[in-house]
Amino acid sequence: MNLEIVPTGAALGAEIRGVDLAQPIDEATFATIERAYDEHGVIFFRDQRITAEQHVAFTRRFGEIAYNIFGQRWSVPGCPEIVVVSNITDDGKPIGIRRAGEYWHSDMCYTARPPRGTILYAIETPELLGLPLGDTEFASAAAAWDALPESLQQRLLGRRAVFDFTARKRAFPPKPEEILVNPPVRHPIVRTHPRTGRKCLYVMRDDCAAIEGLDAEEAEALIAALADHIVKPQFIYRHRWRPGDLLMWDNCTVQHRAIQDYDLPQRRKMHRTTMGGSVPV
Ligand code: OGA
Ligand code: MN
Repeated sequence: MNLEIVPTGAALGAEIRGVDLAQPIDEATFATIERAYDEHGVIFFRDQRITAEQHVAFTRRFGEIAYNIFGQRWSVPGCPEIVVVSNITDDGKPIGIRRAGEYWHSDMCYTARPPRGTILYAIETPELLGLPLGDTEFASAAAAWDALPESLQQRLLGRRAVFDFTARKRAFPPKPEEILVNPPVRHPIVRTHPRTGRKCLYVMRDDCAAIEGLDAEEAEALIAALADHIVKPQFIYRHRWRPGDLLMWDNCTVQHRAIQDYDLPQRRKMHRTTMGGSVPV
């Protein structure tokens, strides 16, 4: 394979060219892909044609699979590792999670071991007059950390926030049993990437309910200020999807949101896997 890494020019993200994910990937090629992933936070491959099994096998190259809590309701039949993210209904029934990730977040940050990363494979993407809709925006929480004044960095280091699964409004309500298995957890608001050592902000307005050692008002103001800082335009890459894109992001250094600027009959269908992660430090 003639692998080429083409950075997006934004604060994060790179396209990987010359790789066919339907073919076996040798160790050296995989190591190059994994390095690019660690370095750029978001990587994507265009024009892929892969089966659900190949998608799962590629995910496993990065370690164990993490099972999404909503996956039981919306996985691909016979393939519990893949969750369908879609606005399509079949016979009036949704085929996948609708309006997933509409507001800025990092996946499953309310769990004790959030997934290392998430992989989306685009099967159908919406458009209007040939213009792509349903983009996804990605923000570099690492670049956002680097840009903070040192005095503020010092104030944040060592602090932890309470991440509460029930704090965020979702397009569909979690079931009581889903809430029960996700009690509030505490994570550092400045994370160190387990592979690169890079520091990044780990604060989500809709998931962080409190900050240890701060009263409610101070905590709310700090969470809001940092959440707004992370998503400033200079830290963002916006991905315009094409069918056949396989894109993956790092849930430590990157936050993301789905742009909901389309509706049926415009159809969007993604296959999603998540990789096991570690306890944030
Ligand atoms: C997700 C997610 C965004 C999108 O799958 O975790 O946030 O654009 N998806 O589908
Ligand atoms: Mn998400």
